[in-house]
Amino acid sequence: MEDINITIIDREGIEHKVLAPTDMNMNLMEVCKSYELPVQAVCGGMAMCATCQCYIISDHDLGERNDDEQAMLWEADHVKDNSRLGCQIPITEDLDGLIVELAPED
Ligand code: FES
Repeated sequence: MEDINITIIDREGIEHKVLAPTDMNMNLMEVCKSYELPVQAVCGGMAMCATCQCYIISDHDLGERNDDEQAMLWEADHVKDNSRLGCQIPITEDLDGLIVELAPED
């Protein structure tokens, strides 16, 4: 399998069904940006800005937050139990069918 299906719900509640390649070493933030969804990614994927925060809606097991991700989410706003940083989520075949919602911007 090379592409997986991901549904990204934007901040207006609009669902974007996108295809994400599993063989290009991409993360979820980069997928959002490649489809021109409004993810700023100010830090470029270093887990230092939280502008790529999203909520995991489907029940995929993404594993634990890594240390950098956890530290950033301690400081960020609008954090929920299902918050993750998109830049810390590698696109793998296991994520086929993933549904995420972009967290508020401010
Ligand atoms: S892009 Fe900055 S934390 Fe993910």
